[in-house]
Amino acid sequence: MTPTTPFPAERLEDSNVRVLLLENIHPNGVEFLRGKGFQVETRDSALSENELIEAIAGVHLLGIRSTTYITEKVLDAAPDLIAIGAFCIGTNQIDLAATTSRGIAVFNAPYSNTRSVVELAIAEIISLARRLHEKSTDMHAGIWNKSAAGSHEVRGRTLGIVGYGNIGSQLSVIAEALGFKVVFFDIDDKLALGNAQRCSTIEELLQISDVVTLHVDGRPGNAGLFGADEMSQMKPRAMFLNLSRGIAVDTAALREHLESGHISGAAIDVFPVEPKRQGDPFESDLRGLKNVILTPHVGGSTEEAQQDIGRFVASKLRAYASFGSTSLSVNMPEINLPSDSSKHRLALVHRNAPGVLATINGLLGEHGVNIEAQSLSTRGDIGYVLTDVAAEVGTEVLQELAALPESVRLRQLS
Ligand SMILES: NC(=O)c1ccc[n+]([C@@H]2O[C@H](COP(=O)([O-])OP(=O)(O)OC[C@H]3O[C@@H](n4cnc5c(N)ncnc54)[C@H](O)[C@@H]3O)[C@@H](O)[C@H]2O)c1
Repeated sequence: MTPTTPFPAERLEDSNVRVLLLENIHPNGVEFLRGKGFQVETRDSALSENELIEAIAGVHLLGIRSTTYITEKVLDAAPDLIAIGAFCIGTNQIDLAATTSRGIAVFNAPYSNTRSVVELAIAEIISLARRLHEKSTDMHAGIWNKSAAGSHEVRGRTLGIVGYGNIGSQLSVIAEALGFKVVFFDIDDKLALGNAQRCSTIEELLQISDVVTLHVDGRPGNAGLFGADEMSQMKPRAMFLNLSRGIAVDTAALREHLESGHISGAAIDVFPVEPKRQGDPFESDLRGLKNVILTPHVGGSTEEAQQDIGRFVASKLRAYASFGSTSLSVNMPEINLPSDSSKHRLALVHRNAPGVLATINGLLGEHGVNIEAQSLSTRGDIGYVLTDVAAEVGTEVLQELAALPESVRLRQLS
């Protein structure tokens, strides 16, 4: 980890916190931060590295979405920056190692769009079971094909969920309310919700499910998770959904199973290769098949999800700036010490080395500073400690704390 210059520990009043929000962040987030008294500047588009280097001087909190890249050069131009909010799910656009070594906290919104994915999955399962896409396409082509053949209710069917995390488990609850019998397989030991039943292998799930839906994460081992072998173990005429990761499914094998009729329908939202920009051509083995719903990675794309992302990330930035809370931070050790307005709080990001806490407390003790509450957490190379004291700490003590060899960034919060 690169050592950084200890941060001067001057207190930052909320009214002096400067926030720069790029990429048209939802008004929810903007209003929330303004409502807390922060000075908020907004821009509609992303900024290039050079533009950001110019704009970031004096900024304490930066909000971006997926197209602004946070590089070492940007961070070098941002000595006042204390936190970055990624108003989206992914954080690949941020050099996380560089932010962490500078004691800059990063927040994102990992859960805000999970309900949207669940609702799309439910809509697609019923659409596939009733062959809605096919019937609607026929009608647009002027064909009146009134027939019950191949259309089914979902009530009483078995839904097999592979990956029982935030999305899989919510889907389980809603599907059960629709009359599904739910079974799931997860590599972790997950609590079964409602009447859902755990399968001990994916094979067991495939053999009993009328609908198989993937909700696994993107760990490297999941590339090629679902191929010809898995598909051939599914029940004849079962349906298949993937709204998780494109790389998890062999689309050529899926095409074969759809063409043979072994799989009766599929809904796919994510693809091994996806167009980079709006309007770029979309290529896939799955184009042009009957009873196959293809959507352009929009499982989580709803206005409600955007609104929730705005609120969620803005509230994390505020809690970090004002109270030092790192709850659900992407890169910082997690601490959420209740704040007490009668106390003064010191927030110190430090290198994770043996004896740091003893050194900090020894130094405070030597200066007669009594600790009222304290919480320490570590994560890899970095440690974070919040210390509440009864009276304001003098400049000399702050300078000594900031000058400790392990100190990365010291802030006085109240
Ligand atoms: N389509 C979209 O627009 C959209 C939106 C949001 C999330 N997603 C994707 O949906 C997926 C699920 O999201 P989440 O928030 O529920 O993630 P999560 O991390 O909460 O859950 C993933 C679950 O999958 C399990 N898992 C991983 N590999 C497995 C395997 N090989 N077999 C069985 N279980 C396995 C994990 O143990 C975990 O319980 C992620 O890949 C996410 O990126 C897609």
